[in-house]
Amino acid sequence: MSRTFDLLKWTLAVGSGDQNFLGAKWVPGFLGRLKGENQKKWALRLLSMSPHYFIDGTSTKLPNETTDEFLLRVFNVIVGTRDEIYEKALSPYLNESDTVIDYGCGPGFVAAAVSPFVKKIFALDISDGALACGKILNDRDNVEFVNARDADDSIPTGGIDAVYSYAVLQHMTDNVFRSMLQNCGKYLAPGGRLILHVQLPDETWKTETEWRRDNSAKGKLKFKYGLHCFGRTEETFREMLSEKGFDIIEIKEMEVLFGRSDGELASQRLIAAIKR
Ligand SMILES: C[S@@+](CC[C@H](N)C(=O)[O-])C[C@H]1O[C@@H](n2cnc3c(N)ncnc32)[C@H](O)[C@@H]1O
Repeated sequence: MSRTFDLLKWTLAVGSGDQNFLGAKWVPGFLGRLKGENQKKWALRLLSMSPHYFIDGTSTKLPNETTDEFLLRVFNVIVGTRDEIYEKALSPYLNESDTVIDYGCGPGFVAAAVSPFVKKIFALDISDGALACGKILNDRDNVEFVNARDADDSIPTGGIDAVYSYAVLQHMTDNVFRSMLQNCGKYLAPGGRLILHVQLPDETWKTETEWRRDNSAKGKLKFKYGLHCFGRTEETFREMLSEKGFDIIEIKEMEVLFGRSDGELASQRLIAAIKR
C-alpha cells in the first residue's frame, strides 16, 4: 500500500520528457509560494518523493522521529556524503579560478560542497523541481542553477574549465549520454577537464541493451516510467568519449578513492578526461 502511494506521488511530480522526476510545473510554483522554514520543509518532503534523491536504502526513520525530523537527518547525511565526494574524488581536478558545470546537479548538494573551492558553478539539470529545491536548500553566491533546456542562454560556449557529473550518467540512455558529451564539448575550452562518476555493469546495474531486452509488460513500463539504472563497461566509455573528442587521462576505482570497500562502490569508477 505504502509502495503504491509512493509510486502515485512520484508519478504526480514527473515532468515532460524522459526521466524528468520532480519536473512537473506545479513543483516550483508550489515551493515559490512558501516562506522560510516551510520552504525548506517542503523541499525536503518533495525530494523524498523522487526516486533520485533521499532514497539511499540505508536511512530508516527512527521509532520516535517525525517525518520532517527524519528528512532533516537524511539531509545532513547527504551534505556529509557530498563533502566527501568533493574531497576524495573531485578536488584533484578543480582549481580556485575555475568556472565549472555540475552536470545533473539535482538539488545541488555536490555544487554546495564544491562551491568554496571554485570561482563559479553552473548547476545544470533537466528537472525544474530539483532545481527549485536546490535554490532553497543549497543556495550559494557562486552557484547558478540552470535548466538544461536554457543552458545556451547562460553558459558561455568554450568558456568552461571543467565539467563534473556525479551519479548521473547511469540514468542516461546512450543517446542522451552522447548529447551530454556533445554539450560538454561545446561548453568546455580546449584542454578543459571532464570528470565523470560512472557505473560498470554488475548484478544490479544491467546494460541498456539488457534492459531493452525485457519485453514483458512490467519491463516495458519500468523502462518508460521507472528510474533508468544502466551500467557500461570501461571499453564503452572509452569509445563514446573518444567519438565525442575526449581523451581519457585516468580511470580510478571509487573504492580506492574512498579508502573503503562496499558493494556499491566496487563497480563505480571515476573517469578523468580532457577535451582534445
Ligand atoms: C541521482 S541524481 C544526482 C544528483 C547530484 N549529482 C548528486 O549527486 O547529488 C541524478 C540527476 O541527474 C539529472 N539528469 C538526468 N538526466 C539528465 C540530463 N539529460 N541532463 C541533465 N540532468 C539530468 C536528474 O534530473 C537528477 O537530478
